[in-house]
Amino acid sequence: MSTVTTPFPVALRLLVGYVASTDRLRFAGFVVLVVVEGLLGPVTIAASGLAVARAAPAFGAGLDSAAAAALAAAVGLAGLAFAAGQLITPLRDAVATSLGSRVAQRMREQLLSATVGPPGLAHLEDPETAEEIRRAGEYEWADLAPLTTIVQQLGAALKTVISAAGAGVLLAGFAWWAPLLLILAAVGTHVWMAGNEHEIVEQHEAHAGQQRRADYFRDLALDPPAAKEVRLFGLAGWLAGRARRHRTAYLRHVWQARRANLRPVLLTLGTIAVANGAVLAALGATAVSGGLGAAELTVYVQALIALQSLGHPLLATWWVRQGAAALPHLVGLAERTHRLSVRPRGSAPAIGMPRRELRLSGVRFGYPGHDRPVLDGVELAIPAGSSLAIVGRNGEGKTTLLKLLARFYDPDEGAVRIDGTDLRDLDLASWRAQLAVIFQDFIRYELTAHQNVGFGRVETAGDPEAVRRAAERAGALELIKDLPDGWQTVLSRHYRGGVDLSGGQWQRIALARALRAADAGARLLVLDEPTAALDVRAEAALFERFLELTAGTTTVLVTHRLSSVRHVDRIAVLDRGRIAQHGTHAELMATDGLYRRMYRLQARRFDEGVHDA
Ligand SMILES: Nc1ncnc2c1ncn2[C@@H]1O[C@H](COP(=O)(O)OP(=O)(O)O)[C@@H](O)[C@H]1O
Ligand SMILES: [Mg+2]
Repeated sequence: MSTVTTPFPVALRLLVGYVASTDRLRFAGFVVLVVVEGLLGPVTIAASGLAVARAAPAFGAGLDSAAAAALAAAVGLAGLAFAAGQLITPLRDAVATSLGSRVAQRMREQLLSATVGPPGLAHLEDPETAEEIRRAGEYEWADLAPLTTIVQQLGAALKTVISAAGAGVLLAGFAWWAPLLLILAAVGTHVWMAGNEHEIVEQHEAHAGQQRRADYFRDLALDPPAAKEVRLFGLAGWLAGRARRHRTAYLRHVWQARRANLRPVLLTLGTIAVANGAVLAALGATAVSGGLGAAELTVYVQALIALQSLGHPLLATWWVRQGAAALPHLVGLAERTHRLSVRPRGSAPAIGMPRRELRLSGVRFGYPGHDRPVLDGVELAIPAGSSLAIVGRNGEGKTTLLKLLARFYDPDEGAVRIDGTDLRDLDLASWRAQLAVIFQDFIRYELTAHQNVGFGRVETAGDPEAVRRAAERAGALELIKDLPDGWQTVLSRHYRGGVDLSGGQWQRIALARALRAADAGARLLVLDEPTAALDVRAEAALFERFLELTAGTTTVLVTHRLSSVRHVDRIAVLDRGRIAQHGTHAELMATDGLYRRMYRLQARRFDEGVHDA
């Protein structure tokens, strides 16, 4: 779906349909309230006309006369209708509020199931779908138009339309053309204005990219982590200038559209004034010539006034557009994201796997929407219980290979097999429970130290002894004990009493998380360069410690630094989409190939003092 705005009738249908299907009973009650409230207006007008008509005969007729009783009935009816209207309005608003919050809740849940639901990653990594998801999330449009308000406005608009229709019927008693003229003036001019409003929204949508860019620069200026670089590189002025430039570019288009809107607004007001003047003049002329009594004049003038409010529901179109803006993106989003994602297929339990081996055969894979495959013809076997290092330059596809192992994606060709069973035939959740992976960009949860480690197995995250043991083995226990609130310290400076850890400390926490998963039964442990912040020696030390701790478990280490992984059982060199070399460090060093060349190059750089190669 592109940036084109939804036409109003479509938006209205979408919004009303969505609201109605969210809670049919409440919606029905809401509509009944709105209709009753709408009819009370014309009833009040008619009753007041009746009261005027009955006033003259009642004057001086005495309290117990029939004329007085008739007058009292008319006044009573008018009063009752008015009072009922006063009572029903807050009630209708309350129902609208609860209906609106239910709609918002449903939208939140749909969005969540569309994003968190699919077991794969394609929908999140595909730029087009990611954009869809972002737009589907804009249902509470910058909090300007929460759905509660939108539903309230919708109710108020419908009520006004019903009231105006009733008033129109009353005014038709004077002349059929009078209500027609007033309605035409109001609706006609509105349609015209709506076109212009549409233009403004269109401009907003078309240049929203500029605004997002401006927001990005503003956020960079406000973001504490970025603050260091911003100051160091003296970027503040540049960022502010950029933010201003993008914001101004965006606003210029919107202002232009608004200025163009001014003439139609004036013409609209003029047209409505002329139509009202014509009806009022006709009423006056007829009354003066004796064609209308006081009672009829009362009714007609009130009806004419009531018809003015037709302008209000027309304003509600804005609210409807806002309310419906996210819906085309949200409706069916979950199906679309699930379709992109890998699908659960098999249901064979994976508990205890791999027992024998993990094997990739003839694996070819490219990211959706990209022509060139990242992996092409990967052949690799990892015996259960052994350790393997996957090495290769940045961008060769090491992380991608791991994503296939975790089944975030399925291979385009070939298969990943665990003990001979295609990964696609295994129960996905049960397979993932066999995995403990620390990715390059592992998550630093802004939660307590306990939760950060316990997430290795969330079901037993509350087990303090198990969590403590994992931290101890990862060498993280000391640092956690030193935290101001110990295990309960939130690992983020954004919280009161929270603390930020250094890169190396975070790695130990992440390591503890992986060890916790291993203790809890994970059979395949993977470290994907979570060591970017460490120097070569520290990375080597961490890898070695990890290998010691997990001896006997199938372990995969990923790095582009060859010296860190000399002690693994086997090394696989990933190059140009396939495994170019495979063997022990000694075997690979004895062969004239990519590994030996890269190793010597990196060793030389290291000796020269360039610590990372
Ligand atoms: N989500 C993605 N969509 C498209 N291309 C991607 C995506 N993730 C990675 N790539 C590309 O795939 C290649 C391999 O990336 P990656 O597996 O991260 O390499 P490595 O981990 O070896 O550094 C790179 O060219 C990278 O740009
Ligand atoms: Mg990587």
